[in-house]
Amino acid sequence: MDKSMKDIMQFRFACKHFDVAKKVEDSVLRELLDLTILSPSSFGLQPWKFIVIKNQELKNTLAPACYNQPQIVESSCVVVMCARTDIAKILEEYCVKSKADLGYTDEQTEAFKNMIVGSILSRVDEDIKVWAQKQVYLAGMSLMLIAAERGVDSCPMEGFDPAKVSAVLGLPTELVPTLIVPLGYRNMEEPKKTRFDFDAIVEERN
Ligand SMILES: Cc1cc2nc3c(=O)[nH]c(=O)nc-3n(C[C@H](O)[C@H](O)[C@H](O)COP(=O)(O)O)c2cc1C
Repeated sequence: MDKSMKDIMQFRFACKHFDVAKKVEDSVLRELLDLTILSPSSFGLQPWKFIVIKNQELKNTLAPACYNQPQIVESSCVVVMCARTDIAKILEEYCVKSKADLGYTDEQTEAFKNMIVGSILSRVDEDIKVWAQKQVYLAGMSLMLIAAERGVDSCPMEGFDPAKVSAVLGLPTELVPTLIVPLGYRNMEEPKKTRFDFDAIVEERN
């Protein structure tokens, strides 16, 4: 039976130990990533790139850059979710793609370009990075929920040294490792959750 959103939210937890013998099938992984790509992003620009690591040796090499957190070596695969900061290039790519997919006219494309130049490209580098990283977090949450729907466990991780992760993966400077999401099948009991009370978090204004 299909899982409800309630089931999915209750299934997901930050999994610290994965069953090393149980791998996420390639077809399942592909489906998770295909759906993750449907995540929303500011202006639809998708300033992200997802590096998928299944190779055990590479995961082992990556682990020290992630403070040797066990999820990296134990998981079936690791998704290094990177922010793209080469916005001018993204904009060019997006204009070509959206024109083909949505049939935008040259005038519409030009107007869109001008809007992005004014609202995003005009920002200082640090602000562009933060903007792109925010989008990556949304995709990260999507990936974890989509995975949960398929019974795949995950852990959101920002406990890593981005410079070291970049060095291990040989990433170009425009890619900023932002969130690492190991995927696999749990090899631990789900710990009890702790959350602030509803009224401490939700405030109604009339
Ligand atoms: C942005 C972010 C970064 C996190 N980084 C790590 C991490 O590096 N290692 C880890 O074990 N858990 C990490 N967590 C997991 C949180 O500790 C966990 O989500 C939180 O304690 C709530 O528990 P739950 O997700 O199991 O409900 C991170 C969570 C988020 C949202």
